[in-house]
Amino acid sequence: MLKKREQWGSKIGFILAAAGSAIGLGNIWKFPYIAGENGGAAFVLVYLVFILLIGTPVLIAEILLGRETQRNSIGAFKQLASNKLWMIVGGMGILAGFVILSFYSIIGGWAVGYVVEAINGTFASFETPEASGDLFGQLIGNAKWVIGMHTIFFGLVMSLVYFGVKRGIEFGSKILMPLLFVILVILMIRGITLEGAEAGLNFMFKPDWSKITGDSILIALGHAFFTLSLGMGAMLTYGSYMPEDSDITIASLQIVFLDTLIAIMAGIAIFTAVFASGLVPGSGPGLIFQTLPIVFAEMPGGYIFGILFFLLLSIAAVTSAISLLEVVVAYFVDELNWSRKKAVFIFGGIIYLVGIPSGLSFNLLSDYTFNGLNFFDLADFLASNILLPLGGLLISIFVAWIWGFEKAIPALLKGATKMSHNNMVLMSWKFFLKFVAPVFIFIIFLHSIGLF
Ligand code: PFF
Repeated sequence: MLKKREQWGSKIGFILAAAGSAIGLGNIWKFPYIAGENGGAAFVLVYLVFILLIGTPVLIAEILLGRETQRNSIGAFKQLASNKLWMIVGGMGILAGFVILSFYSIIGGWAVGYVVEAINGTFASFETPEASGDLFGQLIGNAKWVIGMHTIFFGLVMSLVYFGVKRGIEFGSKILMPLLFVILVILMIRGITLEGAEAGLNFMFKPDWSKITGDSILIALGHAFFTLSLGMGAMLTYGSYMPEDSDITIASLQIVFLDTLIAIMAGIAIFTAVFASGLVPGSGPGLIFQTLPIVFAEMPGGYIFGILFFLLLSIAAVTSAISLLEVVVAYFVDELNWSRKKAVFIFGGIIYLVGIPSGLSFNLLSDYTFNGLNFFDLADFLASNILLPLGGLLISIFVAWIWGFEKAIPALLKGATKMSHNNMVLMSWKFFLKFVAPVFIFIIFLHSIGLF
């Protein structure tokens, strides 16, 4: 017997929590650095096309599966599929949640650690740009610092998930998301008004197509999934706490809009600052940690902006990380009747431990690589570029071809407003989910393993 499930306290509560899951390190830390490594504007455009053509239809499908079944990622397939093999898609999602959260918490920890550095006024003492890179290298090279910060970040995430859907996740997101937006607007205006900001804007908006390779296409696809928290049941789980009288299509469009807006705003804030200070955009996962402190060191009010920025990054990371842990917890609470507390402590504890090798990839274990990838890179690659798009491929096939639109459309229209009843809207969703998403993902996979 299922216990009475929790629900979001309001419609806006769902939007904020789902946007809180989508908007995270992916938008602020990862998007600028992978755009920087993959040539800027052309990559940004490919990513935007994937968000629109693949991400949005799959997001609607995923939230729909959750709301219709009111179950977790495995339970949803158990309920709707006659072939129980489909439960593997949910299981893969739980695995992806484990893997992503383990390395996500390491970067979340860096962000928290940088709040402390900002408060201590460390950035102001930089005499040369190299000083910032040195500080970054020194911090992440210190296993105690990395694991200590990982512990603090993880503790925060576990306590929020422990308090449950309404009190923990929704309350957190309701206050934190608007705050995040305001701080980002300030930073973006600051960036645009810096001298030399134009080069940053050109880098982000003037495409150079020669920079696009097969690899960068797979990275853009993986990132479209990662940034929307798609392909692993996180949005399915959040959708399962959604009441029947809400419009899934509109909610999805709002989430996509907010997520994309924040990524573009973060890109503008970061690239204008990077170029204005004569720095390089392709410096990898350290991009924001190495370059922005220099900018803060030099700009008026930099002390406050530095604190605000890293606080914002930590906040965004926490609201995403709670959705990753929630995917795992929801399964054990729903299907195996565990108490929330037990699930949070046991699985939180295990994922925390799995995160340790990722944290040590930058110091004690840096010599251990596989195909040139350390443990951290490997976890990111496996989850973001393989598990999530594969999950998205299977979710689109399941909804469009197995469960079928005869059932999916009436389910989608429950609680839908007039706009979502519009034939064009419905036809496009069907077309993109049935053909475009699976075919594109499949082709990109074949391409990335060198099949053509
Ligand atoms: N969307 C988050 C981000 O952009 O940082 C990361 C993420 C959260 C991915 C939840 C997947 C997920 F299920």
